[in-house]
Amino acid sequence: MFSIDRFAETIEKAIASIDYPLHPAGLYAPVRYTLEGGGKRVRQVLLMASAEAFGKEAGEVISQALGIEMFHNFTLLHDDVMDNADVRRGRPTVHRRWNSSAAILSGDAMLTMATQLVAKCPADELEGVLALFNATAMEIYEGQQLDMDFESRDDVTVEEYMEMIRLKTSVLLACACRMGAMLAGADSGACDAMYRYGELLGLAFQLQDDYLDTYGDPALFGKEIGGDIINEKKTWLWITAMSKRQDEMQRILDKKLTDYLKISEIKKIYDELGLPDRSHELIESYASQAVAAIDSVPMGADARAFFTSLAKKSTTRSN
Ligand code: IPE
Ligand code: IPE
Ligand code: MG
Ligand code: MG
Ligand code: MG
Repeated sequence: MFSIDRFAETIEKAIASIDYPLHPAGLYAPVRYTLEGGGKRVRQVLLMASAEAFGKEAGEVISQALGIEMFHNFTLLHDDVMDNADVRRGRPTVHRRWNSSAAILSGDAMLTMATQLVAKCPADELEGVLALFNATAMEIYEGQQLDMDFESRDDVTVEEYMEMIRLKTSVLLACACRMGAMLAGADSGACDAMYRYGELLGLAFQLQDDYLDTYGDPALFGKEIGGDIINEKKTWLWITAMSKRQDEMQRILDKKLTDYLKISEIKKIYDELGLPDRSHELIESYASQAVAAIDSVPMGADARAFFTSLAKKSTTRSN
């Protein structure tokens, strides 16, 4: 039976049983704090579900699933420094709880631990698994660089934004899907389709993250609302508002308002343009395209239902 609860239970057990060295405590405490601080575990679930869809028990790919989750958490530590974010998963970010040196170095340790975990696979799979993992990591760094470059540009197009989020977010979900399928011995057509599913799901996922950054409930979202507007992140919401109301947007920015007023005035423009609904049409379209990408891949009805419901959930998630 495909059940998110069963996958989640396997994950939480594996995370709780990680054996961290005791010294130096300053290196490992933020790692434990981050890993044990919750999160949706989407990438791990995708890897385990993709393995099971092609006949391999989730428990047999737990090391790779943990590795991908560890890698994701490493990117968050560094991302929160880059985005100057104070809160994640309802708690102070590592660079606030400790300092940015701790976030950088513990992040580095997580990257290496992630690679060690991913590499714990059958010898005949090692080359392919590591090549996929390393190529994905490089793409994520490229996406994160573009995300920062875009902060100081005012001519970013929706196409550039979509490519940036494909790189910073989608490829890791896609990598998880492909790795699970690969380790289960799926053929290359199925692996490619699973990758495409993850990639399209990732676009929906990041569009929803950007929506929640402005419209989410902070108690559920676990992050501070409005950070993207403060940092002038070139989200779909921002780019679309700029294309329709450039003069008004520019007047707001020129006023050098407090964070609170800047957020509320920009948000007012988003609302007037009906962007929350329009962004949801886009999110739903990417989620449907994700499901369509695996249409012709042979898999059990329960596996297909699982991937379909995961895609649907990502369009309405509030955290
Ligand atoms: C946050 O990822 C970073 C993005 C790519 C949007 P998640 O929303 O998966 O974060 P957690 O792991 O559930 O906290
Ligand atoms: C993060 O995008 C993507 C990666 C961490 C690679 P965001 O900056 O939007 O993620 P959050 O909102 O801080 O989780
Ligand atoms: Mg960021
Ligand atoms: Mg961020
Ligand atoms: Mg975000």
